Amino acid sequence: MSKISPNILITGTPGVGKSLMCRLLSERTGLTWIDVSKFAIENKCSEEYDEVYQCPILDEDKLLDHMEELMCKGGVIVDYHGADFFPERWFDIVFVLRTDNTILYDRLKERGYTGKKLEDNIDCEIFQTILEEAKSAYEEGMVHELMSNNMNEVTSNIDRICQWIVQWKIDNEP
Ligand SMILES: Nc1ncnc2c1ncn2[C@@H]1O[C@H](COP(=O)(O)OP(=O)(O)O)[C@@H](O)[C@H]1O
Ligand SMILES: [Mg+2]
Repeated sequence: MSKISPNILITGTPGVGKSLMCRLLSERTGLTWIDVSKFAIENKCSEEYDEVYQCPILDEDKLLDHMEELMCKGGVIVDYHGADFFPERWFDIVFVLRTDNTILYDRLKERGYTGKKLEDNIDCEIFQTILEEAKSAYEEGMVHELMSNNMNEVTSNIDRICQWIVQWKIDNEP
């Protein structure tokens, strides 16, 4: 079965603005937004709790099984701070959001992150861990970096993705 809409992965360090952008993008395009952390909890695909990072540990196999059917239908925006455990075949394009460290620091503090969790997430952005992860997990031409420091950038990123979706539909007409 061929898809009528593409699947898009939006990834990046916590706090870079994935969920904000995915919400606006799904409102504008009608595509289905899956916030993987929430989806995992709702579908009981997270079991243990990581005390150091204060976040649930995913049961990855179970999660992938739950997502498979939705992904095959197409038209899904996947929002997650990791890129390498999804099958490459699921996605038509991957966007890695990036934020300047000082801005990200303030956003994470605002969110209540402190100590090791705060430091590790800032390091994750400095060392562009998620970008490297995405580049090694997906074909090079699929992975695009987008800056997300302010609302102007969110708006232009959304415009750019919408243009890409229009072109994808032309190129993939049944
Ligand atoms: N580009 C941006 N400009 C201004 N504020 C932003 C931007 N992106 C995100 N934010 C704000 O930063 C916080 C974290 O954003 P969120 O979308 O939850 O990040 P993520 O889902 O990547 O962890 C939210 O309060 C959000 O409104
Ligand atoms: Mg989020």
